[in-house]
Amino acid sequence: MTEVAQRESLLATPLDTHVVGSRVLVFEEVRSTSDHALRLGGDGTVIVADAQTAGRGRHGRSWRSAPGLGLWFSVAFENPVPGLAFGAPLAVRDGLSRYGTPTVKWPNDLLFDGRKVSGVLLESRLETTVLGVGINVNHEPEDFPEEIRGQATSVRAECGQVCRRDELLRAVLTELDRKVMVLRSGGVEPVWREWSAACGMTGRRVRYDGLDGVVTDIDVNGALVVSTDAGMRRVLFGESVELLGA
Ligand code: BTN
Repeated sequence: MTEVAQRESLLATPLDTHVVGSRVLVFEEVRSTSDHALRLGGDGTVIVADAQTAGRGRHGRSWRSAPGLGLWFSVAFENPVPGLAFGAPLAVRDGLSRYGTPTVKWPNDLLFDGRKVSGVLLESRLETTVLGVGINVNHEPEDFPEEIRGQATSVRAECGQVCRRDELLRAVLTELDRKVMVLRSGGVEPVWREWSAACGMTGRRVRYDGLDGVVTDIDVNGALVVSTDAGMRRVLFGESVELLGA
């Protein structure tokens, strides 16, 4: 495993935000920052950990969260944030944009040059919604298991130098706070439009449920509308779809 000399404090000074970061807890190691956030709650509470022992991703997959290399954090919301599923990947994208040119892969992965650099997981329990974000920051190729090396990347690989995790975290949380403020003040539609355009799915050929088709639209719930030989199909937000060539 690569040694990254810098062991910066992940959030040393308060954020200049409205909601996100109302409370910030930084841990050396937890099972999952999202478990903590779901348990603790509190509108805007941020839980960050240097390492997770049981980090989880979408579709029940595990999320490797080695110490020192990435950013693993979760943000709890008590009051509704309509459209958070659209705003969150945009906030991560905007935070990452000072290091390269990130793109959004429907529905909420962040890519550099077609390789995944970050993933977003939304979960809720009772009134609490938790946004979990994992960002591969200072990984070198050999830090990824061989089977995903071709599909995964890091900020360091993109910009060619070790990246300060504290600065990236601050940038993402600041962008997230902006999006939350817009969404809570009735701005779901413009955020949905921005997200939908960023995904660039319209016109793409996809395979879903054994059928090949073309995406004709993304609906207001974030689902893909796919035209196939067997008729129209709707691929719900969060379901898996295979992207085919142009
Ligand atoms: C994905 O599958 O792409 C989503 C990955 C989300 C991982 C993050 S890391 C911080 C938070 N805690 C977790 O256990 N998961 C999320």
